Amino acid sequence: LLTPAAHAQRPKPNYDESQVPEFKLPDPLVTQAGKKVDSAEEWNKVRRPEILELFETEVYGKSPARPENMLFEVTSVKNDALGGKAIRKEVSVYFSGKKAGPRMDLLIYLPAKATKPVPVFMGLNFYGNHTITDETDVQINGNWMRASKEKGIVDHKATEDSRGKSSSRWPIETIIDRGYGLVAIYCGDIDPDYDDGFKNGVHALFNSKQKPAPDEWGTISAWAWGLSCALDYLETDKQIDASKVAVIGHSRLGKTSLWAGATDPRFALVISNDSGCGGAALSRRRFGETLHVINNAFPHWFCDNFNKYIDKENDLPVDQHMLISLIAPRPVYVASAEDDQWADPKGEFLSVKYAEPVYKLLGTTGFGAEDMPGVNKPVQKQMGYHIRTGKHDVTDFDWQQYLNFADQHFQGS
Ligand code: GCU
Repeated sequence: LLTPAAHAQRPKPNYDESQVPEFKLPDPLVTQAGKKVDSAEEWNKVRRPEILELFETEVYGKSPARPENMLFEVTSVKNDALGGKAIRKEVSVYFSGKKAGPRMDLLIYLPAKATKPVPVFMGLNFYGNHTITDETDVQINGNWMRASKEKGIVDHKATEDSRGKSSSRWPIETIIDRGYGLVAIYCGDIDPDYDDGFKNGVHALFNSKQKPAPDEWGTISAWAWGLSCALDYLETDKQIDASKVAVIGHSRLGKTSLWAGATDPRFALVISNDSGCGGAALSRRRFGETLHVINNAFPHWFCDNFNKYIDKENDLPVDQHMLISLIAPRPVYVASAEDDQWADPKGEFLSVKYAEPVYKLLGTTGFGAEDMPGVNKPVQKQMGYHIRTGKHDVTDFDWQQYLNFADQHFQGS
């Protein structure tokens, strides 16, 4: 990493398309040894493991195996939530199997009228499960939070005032009316979002004496690992169809949903909303946020090896289109916002496009968009994309597209 003085001298972010450097992307369908991959078998046996390993060691960091003895405890059930349309549950997951160790809390809403196990959306949130709902009897999260006056966080703790503060991003009733469940988790239950030398959260369970090695998990990997642990619980819940879980995330948590989908093939559908640098956007474009900026501002998100590529994006053995390719052939959806140039909408679009050859090789309909679609004009096949008007956020428009996309893939409509 750069010294503070050198960091202060960093170049201004580029927002000018004509200033995007020329670059050559690594081909997802050519092995490290230079061999063309032309069958699904070769992809699955050789190239996919190779790419996964590169992302693990050079970008996000390897996570340990999930514990086999996790303890799941249902702490509340309400059969007439949301005026009777939903069943609501809170479930605690104790990662070490012991109540003394770190735990994450799941908030689950399911359609009350369901007669069989339902497909669900599962996503991490920024300020606690109680912030996604207007129902006032959900437990307030007591863990450390990032400072936010607007969200009702005082001294890094959630207050009563924080209830429902993120509910615009989670249209629970619409999701329920469309026949889906929702599973919410506060990301900080898994790993608090600050650079603490990896002493807390689940890192402490495994790295108590030292910081992770340069190729071991940063916070994004820990969050993705936590999502897989949550899926372990969902597999035990008879009201949920664990073969139809869509993992969704916004921004840093959209980087995380992509990595969760890449590392855990049990996620049947993957959605990344405005994920930008280190998420869906191509690093080599150096448009908006760059590796330089992200690694200095958030040194705990990625593994230390990722720092090698600061201002040397062309040396990366991967780029983010290859992250999308790891999700193939499962449905994947990437969304951008017009006023969110920091996240490089075009770079997010191009990642989907350049992952398409892998989706095609695996026999799916692929993407089908050559050029970036107009604003508010979603493209949806096996791969989906839209850019909507507005800022960096999750809106009802975004959710309408995700629900339509899930209908296509989960309900066959
Ligand atoms: C910052 C960061 C982005 C990130 C975003 C968010 O803007 O630079 O990389 O996606 O925060 O998570 O909201």
